[in-house]
Amino acid sequence: MRHLMNPLDFSVEELDKLFDLAEDISVNPSKYAHACEGKKLASCFYEPSTRTRLSFEAAMLNLGGQVLGFSDASSSSASKGESVSDTIRIISCYADICAMRHPKEGAPMVAASRSGIPVINAGDGGHQHPTQTLTDLMTIRALKHRLNNFTIGLCGDLKFGRTVHSLIGALIRYSGIRFIFISPPELKVPDYITDLLREKGIEYEEVIRLEDCMADLDLLYMTRVQRERFFNEEDYVRLKDFYILNNEKMSLAKDDMLVLHPLPRVNEISVEVDDDPRAVYFKQAQYGVYVRMALILTLLEITV
Ligand code: CP
Repeated sequence: MRHLMNPLDFSVEELDKLFDLAEDISVNPSKYAHACEGKKLASCFYEPSTRTRLSFEAAMLNLGGQVLGFSDASSSSASKGESVSDTIRIISCYADICAMRHPKEGAPMVAASRSGIPVINAGDGGHQHPTQTLTDLMTIRALKHRLNNFTIGLCGDLKFGRTVHSLIGALIRYSGIRFIFISPPELKVPDYITDLLREKGIEYEEVIRLEDCMADLDLLYMTRVQRERFFNEEDYVRLKDFYILNNEKMSLAKDDMLVLHPLPRVNEISVEVDDDPRAVYFKQAQYGVYVRMALILTLLEITV
């Protein structure tokens, strides 16, 4: 039985197969419409979500399966003090696969160690968000037809942003990737990541101003400053509008640069950018359904 805790749980070759499957699903959805008949997905979200939870649920429903779960820890027995370990042992009696989001780093890993069914980490605190990374990689591969030889700018909350941490870890397995980290000093990418990049001889640069690197980028990955990860409101208020991508800044970028964002967006991308063909963050959310369908099939070892 396999779980997905980190994008690195899949080799590059396995990811290629997963993306091929997701692409086939996107062009032949009816072929997969009954693939999970009789199977159930438990969607266990201890932290708020729109895209991840609903795209997992849509993915299982698109595959002909069924969905059960909770979208708020307060409506589960976690509110009475039940541990994640006990909860997953119970859920293993009710469902065939579980997608779990939790505010505590490592909670889905603890669940996986006690589970009788595959567990997918749907985001754990500021740690990892592997299915967002699968979504990001699939979006880049579908729109750029490659996953190597890019200069990618990651902008915003690089300290607490689990989507950023997962994506960097996944991208360093491809050749010719150069990173530009764009953040205020308080939200810099953690040292363990820059240490790893230096150790592997991967080129990176840290800058504060988005304008200083726009012209260099093949991909720009914007992120939100996350209120829920700050210890005090004052710091959040000071930093929340540090970056606002608008049409003026987009005019500095290459004609074929892509703007990605895991969403939700707050103010960091002005709505005027949504009409720019280089803004692909809404398409990205659609790719998330196909890749989660492919992941469910893969972890349940169902072939069509
Ligand atoms: N991208 C993402 O994780 O969005 P949600 O928090 O809405 O699931």
